[in-house]
Amino acid sequence: MNFEYTEEHLAVRDAAREFAQSELLPGVIERDTEAKFPADQIKKMGELGFMGMMVNPKYNGGGMDTISYVLAMEELSKIDASASVAMSVNNSLVCWGLEKYGSEAQKEKYLKPLASGEVLGAFCLSEPEAGSDATSQKTEARREGDFYILNGTKNWITNGNTASVYLVIAQTDVAKGHKGISAFIVEKGWEGFVVGKKEDKLGIRGSDTHSLMFTDVKVPVENRIGEEGFGFNFAMETLNGGRIGIAAQALGIAAGAYELALAYAKERKAFGKPISQHQAIQFKLADMATSIEAARLLVLKSAWLKDQGKDYAHASAMAKLYASQVAMDVTVEAVQVHGGYGFVKEYHVERLMRDAKITQIYEGTSEIQRIVISRGLLR
Ligand code: CAA
Repeated sequence: MNFEYTEEHLAVRDAAREFAQSELLPGVIERDTEAKFPADQIKKMGELGFMGMMVNPKYNGGGMDTISYVLAMEELSKIDASASVAMSVNNSLVCWGLEKYGSEAQKEKYLKPLASGEVLGAFCLSEPEAGSDATSQKTEARREGDFYILNGTKNWITNGNTASVYLVIAQTDVAKGHKGISAFIVEKGWEGFVVGKKEDKLGIRGSDTHSLMFTDVKVPVENRIGEEGFGFNFAMETLNGGRIGIAAQALGIAAGAYELALAYAKERKAFGKPISQHQAIQFKLADMATSIEAARLLVLKSAWLKDQGKDYAHASAMAKLYASQVAMDVTVEAVQVHGGYGFVKEYHVERLMRDAKITQIYEGTSEIQRIVISRGLLR
């Protein structure tokens, strides 16, 4: 067993850390307040290779491993989880799915600009009445000659308005249950495709979350990903990897809040000494650091399993379940360590606390992760 990072891992981590400090930190409070998408920052992340990190270089990707990806996700999420969720969806849900299951023509046309960060992608599974119960898709794609006619509504779509390429999961044969669900690539601007309202959220307020409406949208047959009926399995497999990215995001939110709490505790004085010299604060810091390290090990283990070509479905669910709980617990404690200052925006920890909550909800709630884990245990 080897717990050392390679030189390449450290270089990626340091580049992400530097980018987060120099490019994401300035304006992060204003973007949160105004719910402003970090468009310029995401463009620069594309130029630096963060938007298609694991994609083969022949499709404009970085050709990196999943460990490099989670190290970058952690560093960027310490500062701006709104930017890191856009990156996570593009890398894990859109680029990965296209590279693994897309046709050569789809990779040439769609994966290349997505991996270089020239355009952004969105993954469209959730619906108003199908979130956790993802087999209950109501969006329908009816075959008519060389096209499918797409009708339905998707909800909670990250990069909903900023994306140009959308992977859309839809029913193609309701009688076949989950084997009657298929996946399609849909482009922004196609007739009948309307981006709906932007959600006004508790956290990750800079991320761009929308509903999407499809009315008789003509999708060419060559834009179906894999065979008809493969869409549900495609979504489940894609989400297994997506959960590694969100677990790394949760870890970064926790680690960011902890680092702020540690620095504040060394500076702030009470009862004649820095509060870090009071055991009440020391115990909090010790618990925060221990749970963060345990979460990091789970995140790295799931990334390593994926890199080794081993089954990582249960490991990624465990990593997401645990890291998202740690993100919640640590950010609440970080606010507590800051006292009244933790409750105001300038000190960043209240934002991290709000951002932490979504990591227990998206890409499968904590309850869904427990289902995935227990199915693996009982199999
Ligand atoms: N990995 C691989 N395959 C899986 C799987 C997994 N984790 N979970 C299920 N499957 C496969 C099964 O093997 C089965 O395949 P076969 O029929 O070929 O054998 C098929 O899927 C159906 O499985 P189940 O009968 O177990 O399906 P189910 O209806 O009981 O549901 C579930 C399983 C785990 C609850 C699933 O519905 C699920 O994961 N729901 C949550 C969906 C989710 O995470 N949504 C998030 C939206 S995306 C998002 O949030 C992105 C964003 O914007 C940030």
